[in-house]
Amino acid sequence: MRIVVKFLQSNVGSANVRCDVTQVELARDPSSEPESLPGSEADGRDDQPWWRNAVVYQVYVRSFADANGDGVGDLAGVRSQLPYLRDLGVDALWFNPWYPSPLADNGYDIVDYRAIDPAFGTLDEAEQLISEARELGIRTIVDVVPNHVSNEHPWFKAALAAGPGSPERERFWFRTTEGPPNGWQSIFGGSAWTQVEDGEWYLHLFAPEQPDLNWTHPDVWAEHEDVLRFWFDRGVAGVRIDSAALLVKDPTLREPADEPGPGEHPFQDRDELHDIYRGWRAIANGYPEQRVLVGELWLPDAERLARYLRPDELHTAFNFDFLSCPWDRDALHASIESALAAHAPVDAPTTWVISNHDVTRPVTRYGRDDTSFSFQTKREGTPTDLARGTRRARAAALLSMALPGSMYVYQGEELGLPEVEDIPAERRRDPMWIRSGGVDPGRDGCRVPLPWSGDKPPFGFSGPDAAPPWLDPPGNWGSLTVAAQTEDPASMLSLYRTGLRLRRSAPWGRDAELRFVDAGENVLAFARGERFTCLVNFGSEPVALPADADVLIASNDLEGGAVPQDTTVWLCQAEAQAPTPAPPDRIGKEGR
Ligand code: NOJ
Repeated sequence: MRIVVKFLQSNVGSANVRCDVTQVELARDPSSEPESLPGSEADGRDDQPWWRNAVVYQVYVRSFADANGDGVGDLAGVRSQLPYLRDLGVDALWFNPWYPSPLADNGYDIVDYRAIDPAFGTLDEAEQLISEARELGIRTIVDVVPNHVSNEHPWFKAALAAGPGSPERERFWFRTTEGPPNGWQSIFGGSAWTQVEDGEWYLHLFAPEQPDLNWTHPDVWAEHEDVLRFWFDRGVAGVRIDSAALLVKDPTLREPADEPGPGEHPFQDRDELHDIYRGWRAIANGYPEQRVLVGELWLPDAERLARYLRPDELHTAFNFDFLSCPWDRDALHASIESALAAHAPVDAPTTWVISNHDVTRPVTRYGRDDTSFSFQTKREGTPTDLARGTRRARAAALLSMALPGSMYVYQGEELGLPEVEDIPAERRRDPMWIRSGGVDPGRDGCRVPLPWSGDKPPFGFSGPDAAPPWLDPPGNWGSLTVAAQTEDPASMLSLYRTGLRLRRSAPWGRDAELRFVDAGENVLAFARGERFTCLVNFGSEPVALPADADVLIASNDLEGGAVPQDTTVWLCQAEAQAPTPAPPDRIGKEGR
């Protein structure tokens, strides 16, 4: 495979049109002095707030890099690899929960929201990490988990000790009933209610070790607002809000209707949530450099999602519709169109996400017959064509980078890591796997430690003589290490690095809106600005390129100048008008 990056000869005439990719190196030269943070008041490089088009890299600390040799990634490991993240070209890091936790749900069961898990390091180290990243031009986003706490959290322990009817129990959902108070099901399987020794039942929408908080209680509001301030005061640029659509429950605890209307579900997407996030936004706005709220909202309705992004609520939300979308021209076209249409009225940027710590790795998912993602249908042992999946994942990455808004990259996505499916039962720890009796493969397979270097496990994740990693990387990941991919211009890592640098140079110009272009039934094409077009060929016939366009980058080798199947190209037209690919009747195999 060869990555095509063409350096144009001529400079462009208009300041608003930037197709000159020689700008790319200037935009983020890894060897240059640390730049000031883009989009902040002090910077002035860009009149857009940074979060509107940021590239956010998701760090799963446990699996990123292990500096102290205990087999578990840590903050010292992240600090040692900050230059890697700078060179990749990301604007911010989102850290999965790094707080003390008994790990019933790998950190999403928190004991103390104002401390760092000793396995990862200390609060001092976190503060150093935040400021070191900032010096490299990278902001920090932390995960907050407001729906539930750990069953070892002091509040829950106090509630158990204080007994039925106590004020301590009112911070949770305790009920005295013969059997479970209702039929609500846990998202991890089984009843959402667990009985304690004195006979009362408590609600947990996830694992029993994650009791749900009662958001009608003033302590719960005050505590979480204080947690936000705690991290904002330490320089974090924003928070990712876990399970953001689930916090509020209908106090009558009624059963959901078969097909609940908007806002009618007893524990999802309830209208009272908006008051909580308005309060959070007021806190975020109170900082000189505004802090950012990012919602994890799995909502099927794009318009309901956009309600959380009104100007006085959250800044952005993960685009799970795009993440779950099959590798299909019409489905992706519809997903992009509906996301943009739903976000426009609230003036919020869309986000583009193809993976995270909960879902099947893209190279695996895109290599299957069913290329969509759904928790319900996830099964191990599904036949997978990894070469095909990788090809599509490359195309999906370049597509995401060309779309307007911000994008997320989950660690290892930039290396093209596949889902690991042969983890021995005794090493698995995901409650989705445990609570389904192994029917659901769970999420351990996308959380395996990163391969950095070398030709055998743990591939530089830990140093020599270290304890074995908490999950073993497969023995054949030698060609996927950062070291192996760094010098290979055809690697996934090189594609991400080059693509992200090009993206940073905004070859479409500033604020360029997207316009779909008709390029045939198997082609997804859109223009941005006067000269930029992104084109993805889903069909088996190569698509000829317009004669007057230069290729800025392609996700896979072109075939004699034509775009083969499952390939994305970015084009720049010499004339100040976005190129229109050849209409279907002129598309052929010939190159230009
Ligand atoms: C969503 C998180 O992404 C997932 O990893 C976690 O298990 C649940 N929320 C519960 O906190």
